[in-house]
Amino acid sequence: MNFEAINELIKEDLQALHARMKRELKSDIPLLNLITDYLLKTKGKQLRPMLVFLSARLQAPSNDATIVAATMIELLHTATLVHDDVVDEAETRRGFLSINTKWKNKAAVLLGDFMLSRGLLISLENNQYELLQIMSNAVKEMSEGELLQIEKAMKLDITEEVYYEIISKKTASLIKTACLAGSHSVSTDASKNQLLADIGYKIGMAFQIKDDLLDLGKDEIGKPLAIDIKEQKMTLPLIYTFKKLSWMAKTKLMFLIRFRNKNASSIQNIISIVEKNGGLQYAEELMLTYASEAKALLNQFEDTIYRQAFLALIDFTVHRKK
Ligand code: IPE
Ligand code: IPE
Ligand code: MG
Ligand code: MG
Repeated sequence: MNFEAINELIKEDLQALHARMKRELKSDIPLLNLITDYLLKTKGKQLRPMLVFLSARLQAPSNDATIVAATMIELLHTATLVHDDVVDEAETRRGFLSINTKWKNKAAVLLGDFMLSRGLLISLENNQYELLQIMSNAVKEMSEGELLQIEKAMKLDITEEVYYEIISKKTASLIKTACLAGSHSVSTDASKNQLLADIGYKIGMAFQIKDDLLDLGKDEIGKPLAIDIKEQKMTLPLIYTFKKLSWMAKTKLMFLIRFRNKNASSIQNIISIVEKNGGLQYAEELMLTYASEAKALLNQFEDTIYRQAFLALIDFTVHRKK
């Protein structure tokens, strides 16, 4: 099953998501409507809401609570992207100009705040207090992850453990929450809910490693390439490379990342050092391990078309081109 076929299978859920997002984002402020319309038109892969729907449908038909959870997740995700592009000074997103490029940082920060609060309020309006607790926790963790990353960008000597802590907080927490909330919307079985949370966590880890690999590639991904190097973000391929290099080579690479990180030919030089030392391959292997662990856990559910779609979505996560 390819990505389009998975979308087709849960088409009604995705239509309901779109309608709900549109409704929730309506406001009396014209500028806000202008920007949210732009965001609704430039939607991304919607991987997290897809995981919400499939986590539910693995077990039972989706219901209104499933739609509510998916809407919240995608609003919170989009809000963090809008903020992240301010933090990273990224000029493009999803193949279009980012909100901070088009409307400046001020508007982007405030829009992100609006979407975050809007996202969290939906659970209160639907009397879903447990959902509010789960989601607020994910938002807290994502902010912690982004801040930990800023702290570590100043020191280039981060360990693999710190990297896992960063990506677990900034990315895996929300993807884990997507799977948990989807399951929670149809089931009160605590062990099933926990199982989906574990699956989501592993998918989230694989997902961010893939994102970090795409950053070092050459193909168009709809957002800036090599921005992690420009921002001195030490991702897994680089961390592994550092561990392997001699003192001299390490010092040279450190210099390039610190002082030549805006220059295109130095960036290519950095990437080729990483490649030669097996950094890309190492990250790839780790990513695939997370993905296959997630798939193994998923096999504890009954074999249905939805489980097949879920497995295919995990494959998509690690083989996607953007
Ligand atoms: C990008 O997420 C942010 C990360 C956590 C790496 P996606 O790649 O899911 O973004 P969209 O929503 O599809 O644009
Ligand atoms: C993920 O990290 C950011 C969030 C969790 C919002 P990145 O900074 O790598 O995400 P992209 O590459 O900009 O999408
Ligand atoms: Mg970014
Ligand atoms: Mg990235």
